[in-house]
Amino acid sequence: MPHDTSPHSGRPSDLIGRQIAGYRIESEIGRGGMAVVYRAKDLRLDRTVALKLLAPELARNDTFRKRFTHESRVAAAIDHPHIVPVFEAGETDGVLYIAMRYVSGRDLRHLLDREGPLPIAAVTRIVGQVASALDAAHDHGLVHRDVKPGNILVAQGTDSDHPEHVYLTDFGLTKKSLSLTGFTTVGQFVGTLDYVAPEQISGRPVDGRCDVYSLACVVHEALVGRPPFQRDDDMALLWAHQYDLPPRLTEARPDIAAPADAVLARALAKSPDDRYDSCLAFVAALRTAATRAPATDHPPTEMDFGVAGNPHHPDPPPAPPRWALPVFPRSPATGEARSPQSS
Ligand SMILES: Nc1ncnc2c1ncn2[C@@H]1O[C@H](COP(=O)(O)OP(=O)(O)OP(=O)(O)O)[C@@H](O)[C@H]1O
Ligand SMILES: [Mg+2]
Repeated sequence: MPHDTSPHSGRPSDLIGRQIAGYRIESEIGRGGMAVVYRAKDLRLDRTVALKLLAPELARNDTFRKRFTHESRVAAAIDHPHIVPVFEAGETDGVLYIAMRYVSGRDLRHLLDREGPLPIAAVTRIVGQVASALDAAHDHGLVHRDVKPGNILVAQGTDSDHPEHVYLTDFGLTKKSLSLTGFTTVGQFVGTLDYVAPEQISGRPVDGRCDVYSLACVVHEALVGRPPFQRDDDMALLWAHQYDLPPRLTEARPDIAAPADAVLARALAKSPDDRYDSCLAFVAALRTAATRAPATDHPPTEMDFGVAGNPHHPDPPPAPPRWALPVFPRSPATGEARSPQSS
């Protein structure tokens, strides 16, 4: 059978050793729904890069191309310690590509799959770095739109005070908005809708506060082991993001101080106006609240979640069964909560 030798044939072995736009492909790092990422050598500068080749159908979509070109330029212009530096973005043989810094490590998706729920200190360390990257992007007028564990790369940090160095990647590459506007063809993989903000779903204008919402979904998953909303099908999930009350964080993580519930509730508010103005403000509030002794703060109400008065709002989702609740013993040395895997 003849081999498809296009730069996005889907058979990694076909591309290993090949040269594309001045890069020699060395090995496959991983693949998502619309791209394959390779470790490659930039032959001009003799340096290792991560080369992302996007699915050819994306290059044929004019809206996507325009945004890809614009947003890769803006992202390349942001010099930030927690944003993966983009070296070059372009097109060759009808395939869009991005060359960026090769980050040695795993993404947060892998980390959560391997470790399960993480200690609150690790979560605030990791998302604090993501938050500073997002706020910097917002200052440049760039909204990420696809904040999720797979786009958060976790590399080794410098010392025990900074155990991990975190990079945010994939600006402007969301396919969710494409699929929601009908671009996706039948059978094409549609990415996860676990982190999508209500205003993205309803097609309202988005700003940095949609990234606050998605980051809060990531925080929930990192602490509990599952995103705030899980439903049997995509329509039900989209409905939940728009109208349902998220579960209380401390039901699943009783080791975390109760005021953290109100912080998560505010970050997950249905209306952007009811959320934190910035990602760093959200993470700072979480850090403070999660370590505060439970005091006079009331448990969050429907007002906090911004769903009060919604005639479509059904009863709050039931609490997870007791057997599903992870147990997080406190470290005798630090008093910090530990996941079973981190001990
Ligand atoms: N700069 C990089 N350095 C090292 N690995 C990377 C880099 N960028 C992406 N990766 C890895 O490549 C893999 C594929 O990434 P890709 O963005 O295509 O998929 P994804 O984000 O997991 O899913 P989706 O298609 O839904 O966006 C991921 O495992 C990711 O961790
Ligand atoms: Mg990605």
